[in-house]
Amino acid sequence: MINFADVILDLQQGDSGKGKISNSLVQTGDYTHSVRFNGSNNAGHTIYKDGKKIVTHSIPAGVLHGVKSIIGPGCVVNVDHFFDELDDLEDCGIDLNGLVYISKNTHIITSSHLEDDGRDTKIGTTKRGNGPAYRDKYDRKGIRASEVHELQPYLIDVYEEFHGKKGCSVLFEGAQGFYLDVDWGDYPYVTSSHCTVGSAVMNGVPPQKIRKIYGAAKIYETYVGTKKFEPDDPVFEKIRGLGNEYGATTGRPRQCNWLDIDNLVKAARINGVTDLVVSKMDILRSIGMWCLYYHGKKLTFSSEMGIKDFITNQIGSDVTIYWSDNPENL
Ligand code: IMP
Ligand code: MG
Repeated sequence: MINFADVILDLQQGDSGKGKISNSLVQTGDYTHSVRFNGSNNAGHTIYKDGKKIVTHSIPAGVLHGVKSIIGPGCVVNVDHFFDELDDLEDCGIDLNGLVYISKNTHIITSSHLEDDGRDTKIGTTKRGNGPAYRDKYDRKGIRASEVHELQPYLIDVYEEFHGKKGCSVLFEGAQGFYLDVDWGDYPYVTSSHCTVGSAVMNGVPPQKIRKIYGAAKIYETYVGTKKFEPDDPVFEKIRGLGNEYGATTGRPRQCNWLDIDNLVKAARINGVTDLVVSKMDILRSIGMWCLYYHGKKLTFSSEMGIKDFITNQIGSDVTIYWSDNPENL
């Protein structure tokens, strides 16, 4: 039986602090399960635990705090990478015993998917085989986790797990972001999965059980991929440096730009966000500039208070906003 499920999703182009939110929330002790609902090891979540940097890719953050962690059926999995990630987490001193599972109907990224994605020059993918794996899943040519011998000890049936006798409380952790979603993003400069709240409920939990929807955003935006995103202005080089805006998966420099408030409001509304976490307030504070785009025009604020008031007004009073200025906590 499911008591409730909370969802964490990204309202921008990825890298907006989902890992940090997930890591904070699982420590409340409110959750019995931590579940990744889309994407693969194309994602990179940077998490600071006791001051130490840990990067996760396909395994949700619950595992860092003893919470049963599942790679859901909406994800695709690279088997070799999965075992490497387990090793890396163990090397960081994380006890994984009995905690990590893959839904038996989750699809697999094969070596031919990696080859296909390796040839991409158009989108600027992470070359992790993500798109070709989803292509074959929908083309009904894919392989599921249940068919892979080495994965047998990790397989789980999410129906039995969530709808069995025990009361469950699930924390869903998304990958990528709303503006990389295959339908809502700037197609074709998107990922191949769904990054919305709808994508979370496709992983075995009914919509009536969703309690809170945490939207992750940064006070400025970043994007990795081939299209031009960053305006020609040296301030963004500064933001990249101070904000350490380099891909957690590929190490590529992330292009930076000011926040687009209209896009943020749209993503928050479409996903029914109840709680908004705006991260990296410290970065704009240290450059002493506060700007955003509103109806296509750049607005400049003279103080942090000014930009916060403007965002709060636009988002609306039904959403709780957290302003985060450090990499460890909300
Ligand atoms: P793919 O998901 O590897 O196919 O890449 C498609 C697009 O999504 C590219 O622009 C990637 O840089 C971007 N992307 C994929 N995963 C992430 C992520 O976790 N953070 C930021 N961008 C990502
Ligand atoms: Mg990331």
